[in-house]
Amino acid sequence: MANNSSIGIFDSGVGGISVWKEIVALLPNESIIYYADSKNCPYGPKTDGEIIELSRKVVDFLISKDCKIIVVACNTATAAAISTLRKEYKIPFVGLEPAVKPAALNSKTNKIGILATEGTLRGNHFKRTSETYAKNTEVNVQVGYGLVELVENNDINSENTLKVVEKCIKPLIDKNIDQLVLGCTHYPFLCDAIKEVSGSHNINIINPAPAVASRTFDLLKKNRKNDKNIFYHFYSSGNINQLKNTVKLIKNIDTNKYKFISSRN
Ligand code: DGL
Repeated sequence: MANNSSIGIFDSGVGGISVWKEIVALLPNESIIYYADSKNCPYGPKTDGEIIELSRKVVDFLISKDCKIIVVACNTATAAAISTLRKEYKIPFVGLEPAVKPAALNSKTNKIGILATEGTLRGNHFKRTSETYAKNTEVNVQVGYGLVELVENNDINSENTLKVVEKCIKPLIDKNIDQLVLGCTHYPFLCDAIKEVSGSHNINIINPAPAVASRTFDLLKKNRKNDKNIFYHFYSSGNINQLKNTVKLIKNIDTNKYKFISSRN
């Protein structure tokens, strides 16, 4: 692992920018290459085999760009592919999974809600984590139908967005949950809409992205880069403007270091 190499981050699309943001905040002296596989988004309804195949392609690309660590900023790709990737590549991987443990620990009603994609919810990892950390907690799951598409299209605060979000959140609110886990990296971009819909119900929203940034920080150890000469490159296999618009939602970042590139990978 060479100190001056970059951190690679990928997601099925623009959602992993919610993780990129936390890594930038914690590791400001690191160059980062972000890859949005928006052409193949959403991953959620795809088979594990398809997701593994797509993830391999992106990992090969990031390694060809001299990345020293890869953050799989996608719960769905983590669930389907990370164990295979770890076997096949030497590079260290950081994955994402729904934050069941903190939700169960924080819950006063002993009822938590997990909003995620089909792929994440059917994964063995999620089942195992729920069995281990939420033994005495009612775990209510809900697929976020249509939410990834809203974020990909930068449609995060329209009337229609509120309706789609309400449809997903209402069944969980009706179960009297007091913790809502955002089990997909696209969902933090819908936080305002989620808060508006869940308003009076006093529900704590849990986004695992800061914990993923800490894990990346720890794994890099002595291999952290230590100068100010850094860059942020953003690649998309789909519409590069969607990625650009998503990055623009993050405030207080020096845009001179940005470069957006359409990928034909
Ligand atoms: N951001 C991905 C995740 O965290 C989105 C999944 C999808 O493409 O369906 O699961």
